[in-house]
Amino acid sequence: MGRTTRPEGRITRGTTGTNRLRRVDRWIAQHAALRRTDDPLVVDLGFGASATTPRELHDRLLAVRPDAEVVGIEIDPDRVRRASESARPGLSFRLGGFEVPTPADRRPVVIRAFNVLRQYDEPEVAAAWRGMSSRLQSGGVLVEGTCSETGRVTSWVAIDAHGVPQTFTVSLRLTELPSPAIVAERLPKALIHRNVPGERIHELLVTLEALWMRHAPLATYGPSQRWIAVVAALRDAGWPVRDRASRWRLGELTVDWSAVSPDS
Ligand SMILES: C[S@@+](CC[C@H](N)C(=O)[O-])C[C@H]1O[C@@H](n2cnc3c(N)ncnc32)[C@H](O)[C@@H]1O
Repeated sequence: MGRTTRPEGRITRGTTGTNRLRRVDRWIAQHAALRRTDDPLVVDLGFGASATTPRELHDRLLAVRPDAEVVGIEIDPDRVRRASESARPGLSFRLGGFEVPTPADRRPVVIRAFNVLRQYDEPEVAAAWRGMSSRLQSGGVLVEGTCSETGRVTSWVAIDAHGVPQTFTVSLRLTELPSPAIVAERLPKALIHRNVPGERIHELLVTLEALWMRHAPLATYGPSQRWIAVVAALRDAGWPVRDRASRWRLGELTVDWSAVSPDS
């Protein structure tokens, strides 16, 4: 049962698409919290006009956790009704908002909210993060982010069960990528208005672009080699870069949140 009668938040545009969230699905699938939990309940909050993203998330998680369960939550009752026709064992749909109602009030290990907060105002972000993360299991993660229509340009913040942001990830399709700075158009709401001189996110994007240009000769070995060199150079310059080349080659870069957090 939901904890409140009225879902928290508001109905926004329902734009979604096939394979759009593959990059973040892939990141969630390898997350230690999902691998270790006793209760692999995952929420896809704000799934939009069709059941596509919860269904794809479920498919991808089953490959690593055959007992994974995905609940798609939407604040628009019509979208919930339509999506419910796609329900199957381990995949269900519910009406709700940032209060994150779940079956038997279970706590999710992951809540993914993608392309949801972009239609809210920046001052609303903190409360939404607080509300959603407070529903997580201990050790769980809220993944809140944004992507392009095709999912080729994606970024997200990972927030812990105490509501504290931990990491910021960029994930890009490297083939024909003009510059990693393209992600400026697809930053999470907490950062998109902060991409101005003097803010850390701006410094990161400027640095990434400069390194991408500097390593252009490596393009002859393929865009992955070029990106790996860029991320390694970023780390060597002192940025708190996470992970290893096995993830970087996918077009990912994860840094500590402290490297990009807004000044105020
Ligand atoms: C642009 S769609 C995103 C669909 C999908 N997540 C994707 O990225 O392709 C945003 C959806 O979030 C829903 N939404 C907005 N605020 C919400 C909230 N507080 N709780 C649940 N759903 C919400 C909207 O109704 C809309 O259907």
